[in-house]
Amino acid sequence: MTAAMRSATENLVEISGVEFGYGSRKLLKGLSLAIPRGKLVAILGASGSGKSTLLRLIGGQAKPDRGTVKVAGQVVHELDTHALYALRRKMGMMFQAGGLFTDISVFENIAFPMREHTELPESVLRRIVLMKLHAVGLRGTQGLAPSELSGGMARRVALARAIAMDPMLAMYDEPFGGLDPISINVIANLIRQLNDSLGATSIVVSYDVSEAVKLVDYVYVIAGGVVAGEGTPEEMLGSKDPYVYQFMHAQPDGPIPFLMSSPNCSGVLATISALCASNLEFTSGEDRIFASAPLSFSMTARGVPAGAMAPTQDVVSNPG
Ligand SMILES: Nc1ncnc2c1ncn2[C@@H]1O[C@H](COP(=O)(O)OP(=O)(O)OP(=O)(O)O)[C@@H](O)[C@H]1O
Ligand SMILES: [Mg+2]
Repeated sequence: MTAAMRSATENLVEISGVEFGYGSRKLLKGLSLAIPRGKLVAILGASGSGKSTLLRLIGGQAKPDRGTVKVAGQVVHELDTHALYALRRKMGMMFQAGGLFTDISVFENIAFPMREHTELPESVLRRIVLMKLHAVGLRGTQGLAPSELSGGMARRVALARAIAMDPMLAMYDEPFGGLDPISINVIANLIRQLNDSLGATSIVVSYDVSEAVKLVDYVYVIAGGVVAGEGTPEEMLGSKDPYVYQFMHAQPDGPIPFLMSSPNCSGVLATISALCASNLEFTSGEDRIFASAPLSFSMTARGVPAGAMAPTQDVVSNPG
């Protein structure tokens, strides 16, 4: 067996030297990582570091400017439409914030990927949907509308939909965001159990370090468009590397820059750094900034924030 064949057998996903930007702004700057088969791997990084984008590259919804994204030995961005569609059938995705279709029932949400990708008879499809609902602990909810679900239930339905087709690769984008601690635990246990019982490979993308490290086999931290650190959860928590340490221990100051999604936020930052208060809700014109923990950062001469932000904090600009 050649080295290339061996690595394709061992790793389900291989990303090498990927560069990617939206327009002229470079987001990924030569990122390389591998996801071994059968493992549950976390990709952690601050908000805006490119985690969701990375999942889009793996799913073939975006193409790298340079480098390669391989899934099961196939270069995703070189596949024709038919082959990409076939590969996507083997991937399950739980979108950030769930992404359920609001105007169809729980049943139809879970059935959706099967209707899209298979011609299963209705009776088989029905049995699979009910089985998946049972697997996420929501037996009997198939007739409900998404608006009738709690946040935690909606996330579990999204999870059932992600694993509806028994994917070889399950991807979970921020599965814990906005959930109470019990729901987080339920979702985390489900992700682990489903990975192991389906014999799947799973990627959890999150900025929630504390939850992710309890759950996964291996961790990548991305910062500045590259992998800033990798290792087992224990190795990462014990790492002295400044990037890894800052992120894993939610340190406000360190080498990871505080990213803003909107340039017009910089004005209000100066005001906030003066306030520097805990449990802050601040409104200025169209920008709203919420912070659930003390903020600490300073501004450089160019108005770019020089400090960093705890990963649990969330900056929302122009939320509509
Ligand atoms: N379709 C798009 N067009 C232009 N810019 C985009 C697009 N999608 C994302 N971006 C920008 O790319 C950067 C990375 O976005 P991405 O969603 O990958 O980050 P993330 O790490 O998933 O963040 P979060 O933790 O907040 O979900 C952000 O600055 C975002 O504004
Ligand atoms: Mg994201």
